Amino acid sequence: MLRTPADSVTIAPQSRASGRVRVPGDKSISHRYAMLAAIADGESAISGFSPGADCAATVECLRALGATIRRTGPGAMTVLGKGVGGLHAPAGVLDALNSGTTMRLMSGILAGHPFRTVLTGDASLQRRPMRRIIDPLTKMGARIDAKDGRPPLTIDGGALHAITHEPQVPSAQVKSGVLLAGLHATGRTRVVEVVPTRDHTERALEAFGVDVIRDGTGVEVAGGQRLRPQTLTVPGDISGAAFWAALAGGTPGASIHIDGVGLNLSRIAVLEVFRRAGVQVDFSRDEERAGEPVGTVTFSYGVCESFTVDPDEVPLVIDEIPALAALAAMMPEGRTFTVRGAGELRVKESDRISSLAAGFRALGAHVEEYEDGFTLESRPLVGGAVDAAGDHRLAMAFAIAATRASGPATISGASSVDVSYPGFFDELARLTR
Ligand code: S3P
Repeated sequence: MLRTPADSVTIAPQSRASGRVRVPGDKSISHRYAMLAAIADGESAISGFSPGADCAATVECLRALGATIRRTGPGAMTVLGKGVGGLHAPAGVLDALNSGTTMRLMSGILAGHPFRTVLTGDASLQRRPMRRIIDPLTKMGARIDAKDGRPPLTIDGGALHAITHEPQVPSAQVKSGVLLAGLHATGRTRVVEVVPTRDHTERALEAFGVDVIRDGTGVEVAGGQRLRPQTLTVPGDISGAAFWAALAGGTPGASIHIDGVGLNLSRIAVLEVFRRAGVQVDFSRDEERAGEPVGTVTFSYGVCESFTVDPDEVPLVIDEIPALAALAAMMPEGRTFTVRGAGELRVKESDRISSLAAGFRALGAHVEEYEDGFTLESRPLVGGAVDAAGDHRLAMAFAIAATRASGPATISGASSVDVSYPGFFDELARLTR
């Protein structure tokens, strides 16, 4: 691996991949613990916090709103919360950087505070759709201005009343934003999900002492509840681990072992998909931390066959589709991976259908693009120049696949991995050495 100054990384062909690795703290859970700690009554301690730029953006926003957050070591911090409704108006614009989770969840909290906040983000985030969170928060009583439903958002929060909301698009971020607003509202706020999404907010709220009612497809919180400060450890990010699954699964003889990974049921569907493709996946749940199952996973090489992700599975593996595509690109020639019903990929950190297709094509795979998905067919990978389109998950996916190319691949936009996985390229170099 070679780093060049122009934000690109060159990956040389590799023939082995084995070892033990620890993945960064889960990004989704880190955001939630920081936010809930900031609205709890007293001091929480969080360890294993994601080192990525997305979660750092959440921390900076919370600081600007009056929470006292002290870094006490790598991945460790204390958060002195201000209580529900107790944050104060920030001196300037809040910047969510590249993070959709920061923007959509913080909007829920800010909707319940009686001051104006402007919440912006980087060029990628400014292209992402926010009406899905603006609409329910407006129904609850907040005023939110946005041009074309995109950031920056100007939020005038205040007295909220509960609603029942059924998101049009399955989204854990929207569910969470509405539930967080619900904590600040009068009455019982209910979110009905036709398709289930990750439930970290529900579990984190319960860990902070909030009474959360979950029945079938609904989740409900009553406003006016207080949060008790906690000592919490964030489990490792299974979405980061998925890249090592692809590396091990696509490299003959490889085996990669990961400890301390979050194995929440609403996140492990990807393990089943890797298995279906032919990767050997062994995992065990060893403990539960604050309601989140944590354990070990081992991914080993297996002869892979064509596989698909069906539309009803998409919400549960939405973040891991780039990793699954990396595996597919490394499979024996002529095997395919098809995903449909995944139009949401077009409004992620990049248009993850067209950028993914362009990148894997540049490496040598054949990709057919659909409005709501793609079919990737494996061909001998040749390497070359690939653009990650500033998208962390694409940068990692291209790097993994590139290890099996016949020639070097240069990935531009590679520093985007810092969004969720700083140190990713060093780990890749170590595991393939
Ligand atoms: C997330 C939810 C998902 C996911 C994102 C993190 C979360 O987004 O893709 O990376 O932490 O709630 P959507 O809610 O838009 O599906």
